[in-house]
Amino acid sequence: MKITSAELQTIAVDKEKYPNDNIFEIAFAGKSNVGKSSLINTLVNRKSLARTSGKPGKTQTLNFYNINNEFRFVDLPGYGYAKVSKKERKKWADMIEEYLHYRKNLVEVIHVIDIRHEPGEHDKLMHEWIKYYGFNGIVVATKADKISRGQWEKHRTIIQKKLNIENKQLIIPFSSQKKINVDEVWKVIEEIIEI
Ligand code: GTP
Ligand code: MG
Repeated sequence: MKITSAELQTIAVDKEKYPNDNIFEIAFAGKSNVGKSSLINTLVNRKSLARTSGKPGKTQTLNFYNINNEFRFVDLPGYGYAKVSKKERKKWADMIEEYLHYRKNLVEVIHVIDIRHEPGEHDKLMHEWIKYYGFNGIVVATKADKISRGQWEKHRTIIQKKLNIENKQLIIPFSSQKKINVDEVWKVIEEIIEI
């Protein structure tokens, strides 16, 4: 994908603030700190378009990034971050749910998982939801640079089993730090956008 422009279009919490047009959106969902915002930066080849942090809980709003004036990436807050208050967690969960449930522009939810860790209960729920609503169930398995290539298959199988994924090809090892499999992720995104 040739990126001609990538910019933060809108930040929203309530649905009244979502962009009001018919542009397709691809959202990135996953646990806090797995590398959703970094993934967006890596895909569009911009170091700090989406803000990232070593500490979980960085993205706290729905951030809409307009790419090439053709489609949008939507960076979602992470789920499952234990260190924020229950009230705050509920607020984030409601925000994510409202977006995923009502957003007509949404054409795919990419599930972002840290390749090193077995998916947890929140991941299972998120994946079931993604499938239930008819999305493909693509998993980008981030931080692949943190384990050796020889370990990738083992970790892909763990993710596949835990999330009940039929087709293992849907799980793509990825690294923002080492720029591993950037083209592969673009390939699946391009297929979705061209529908
Ligand atoms: P929240 O917004 O808090 O939900 O987190 P996030 O999922 O957006 O994660 P973010 O992109 O902010 O990255 C979290 C941390 O992981 C940062 O310190 C990143 O530099 C690091 N990180 C992200 N992707 C990779 C990767 O592929 N490899 C390595 N080694 N580190 C990564
Ligand atoms: Mg983030």
